[in-house]
Amino acid sequence: MRPEVDSVLITADQIAARVKELGEEISRDFRGRELLVVGILKGSVVFVADLIRNLKIPICLDFVAVSSYGASTTSSGVVRFLKDLDESIEGRNVLVVDDIIDTGLTLRYLLDNLSRRQPAELKLCVLLDKPSRRKVEVPVHYRGFTIPDAFVVGYGLDCGGWFRNFPDIWVVKKATAVRA
Ligand code: IMP
Repeated sequence: MRPEVDSVLITADQIAARVKELGEEISRDFRGRELLVVGILKGSVVFVADLIRNLKIPICLDFVAVSSYGASTTSSGVVRFLKDLDESIEGRNVLVVDDIIDTGLTLRYLLDNLSRRQPAELKLCVLLDKPSRRKVEVPVHYRGFTIPDAFVVGYGLDCGGWFRNFPDIWVVKKATAVRA
């Protein structure tokens, strides 16, 4: 059954303005250098697509896919690669981009794995941060918005695979946001 959405938490206009600011900040920090942007499938695709068009430095783009929630809405803590990077990151400046950091378990695993491949620099950019749900420490270098503990969808984020196409970010109705 397709879940229902409740109310808009962040509008498309607010997102666009913040993504532009993040692009400017990252471009400043990496001025004169090249960057490999690594998006995490599938949730980050909309954010990555907008973010890279706001970067004024030379970039390459790659993606990884790691298992996370499936159809439910809680992190199992068990993370595995479904798709690895196409390129080596040794000696390169890497920016990992994700839609949301919740418990932090997925990103902790991924960043630990990538740092063992000896990148010159490894930074993390997330659109949304739910700090109240964190279980492990993860350094977030670029953050779009800090949000309360609610299950959100839209702008790439899904619930059971739905709503990734919504331009705004919505809160899912409590009865349909199953958290095991
Ligand atoms: P973590 O390992 O608990 O930090 O979970 C990270 C992943 O869980 C994200 O990349 C999302 O795919 C998913 N996730 C966590 N919270 C939400 C939410 O509110 N809406 C949609 N997906 C979420």
